[in-house]
Amino acid sequence: MEQSVAKKLIVANWKMHGNSEKIISDIQKYVADSATNAENIVLALPFIYLPFAKAELKKYSTSKIKIAAQDVSKFLCSGPYTGEISAEMLKDVGVEYVIIGHSERRMFFHETNHTMAKKLDMAIENGITPIFCFGEEKLAREKRKYLEILAEQLQLLHLVEVTIQELVIAYEPVWSIGSGEVPTTSDIHEVMELVHGFVQNYLPHAKITTLYGGSVNSANIKDILSINNNGGALVGGASLDVSEFKEICSYA
Ligand code: PGA
Repeated sequence: MEQSVAKKLIVANWKMHGNSEKIISDIQKYVADSATNAENIVLALPFIYLPFAKAELKKYSTSKIKIAAQDVSKFLCSGPYTGEISAEMLKDVGVEYVIIGHSERRMFFHETNHTMAKKLDMAIENGITPIFCFGEEKLAREKRKYLEILAEQLQLLHLVEVTIQELVIAYEPVWSIGSGEVPTTSDIHEVMELVHGFVQNYLPHAKITTLYGGSVNSANIKDILSINNNGGALVGGASLDVSEFKEICSYA
């Protein structure tokens, strides 16, 4: 499996946090640090702050940080879809990645496989790299059913109609998100192997990067990044603290 970057990819998922003041101040600190001012660092911000963050980054001629959206419309480039943001609009403001299928979207917004596949289509068609998230619930792991559930979740990629040339696949066990509970490195490795097998069979020509996400912090990042076939990390809570995030990035 080909990894998309030589360095590990680190994606900060701010979720529904932050404001313009924090963005200005954090970007200033990130750009000044070689660990965070790098092409392998991506900030996933709320929609409303994306052009703002992009403009802020542009103020520094040396800035290399990329930005991601946390969601995208499943609908076409433009149309009567009140409240929606299309992939074409994201592209227009310089977004390079988009998170699709995060468990919080599945849980709170009832996103179906069909919806997620459409979002993947839209992102890919508009030249935005999707960060596709999948992961099992606690019960599935306890009942030792997780591998079949995860394999089933990956099947969603077969619903994507456009050719997948580049994709980030993030393994995010639902029970680990925001809980401080992290699977063992061998548990993560087992899932990375599952992804690797899937990709070899069904997406042999695509450029795939795998990530682990769920309670990543500066204390566990080193072990997580050392897992074979893992290309990086999706960091939620810990990405909101500048010094913590800088330390995480320093291992990438
Ligand atoms: P967490 O969130 O790092 O706060 O667990 C990760 C995520 O949901 O992407």
